[in-house]
Amino acid sequence: MSTAVVLLGPPGAGKGTQAKHIERRFGLVHISTGDMLRAAVAEGSELGRCAEGYMKRGELVPDELIIEMILERIARPDCGKGYMLDGFPRTLAQAEALDASLAERGGRIDLAILFTCDPEAIVERMSGRRVCPTCGAVFHLAHNPPAKPGVCDRDGTPLVLRPDDRPEVVRKRLEVYEENTAPVAEFYRKRGVLAEVDASRPIPEVTAAVDRLLEAVTRDS
Ligand code: AP5
Repeated sequence: MSTAVVLLGPPGAGKGTQAKHIERRFGLVHISTGDMLRAAVAEGSELGRCAEGYMKRGELVPDELIIEMILERIARPDCGKGYMLDGFPRTLAQAEALDASLAERGGRIDLAILFTCDPEAIVERMSGRRVCPTCGAVFHLAHNPPAKPGVCDRDGTPLVLRPDDRPEVVRKRLEVYEENTAPVAEFYRKRGVLAEVDASRPIPEVTAAVDRLLEAVTRDS
């Protein structure tokens, strides 16, 4: 059976940063709902047009749109070798829909990692984050700077501040997280698959903790 992992945690905790590492090191397919939605907005697809306003305001995109998008994605053949969900589930309804769909196919989530982080660190991370609008690579002005200032290491595209990283939108996203997504961690705790990682530490320390969890779960599943 392939390994299925969920990454949970407040905005800016470092889920995307660790997801890129897990993908490289353990070969799990990285499925980010935020990246999928940003691609849909950039394409101007129907999903993108529906999602754009919610994202700009820091609110959640409605469950029915997200659930359909993810269930379709994890059914694709490349996920047979294992996958990790970054930014999903974010509500109990999403967690329950995922659980039911996996159970129908004899599957389950093997590990849910909750990245915890101090609110002050989150605000500092969001204001220093710069992303590549072409390939989605994520940098930080101080903690993970690109080799050449202001441009993506991979494709040379000028880096940008994400529109939802403005301080007032970050505050809204943190509120939405506490209200809707924190209970999802309890959902996985009750199933005995939740592990917490203190993501306030420097990136290499967080990565080392993640590696220990992934080594155990990929060995066992
Ligand atoms: P999404 O893109 O998922 O945003 P998020 O969960 O708020 O997470 P972020 O991408 O902001 O942060 P991250 O934890 O990945 O941190 P990162 O690694 O970049 O969602 C965006 C929007 O889409 C939502 O608001 C919603 O509207 C919609 N949406 C998405 N999924 C949805 C769903 N399931 N249902 C409904 N709506 C949905 O790191 C942040 C910065 O810190 C970077 O600069 C990084 O270099 C740096 N950094 C990382 N780790 C460390 C460290 N340990 N020390 C110092 N710096 C660090």
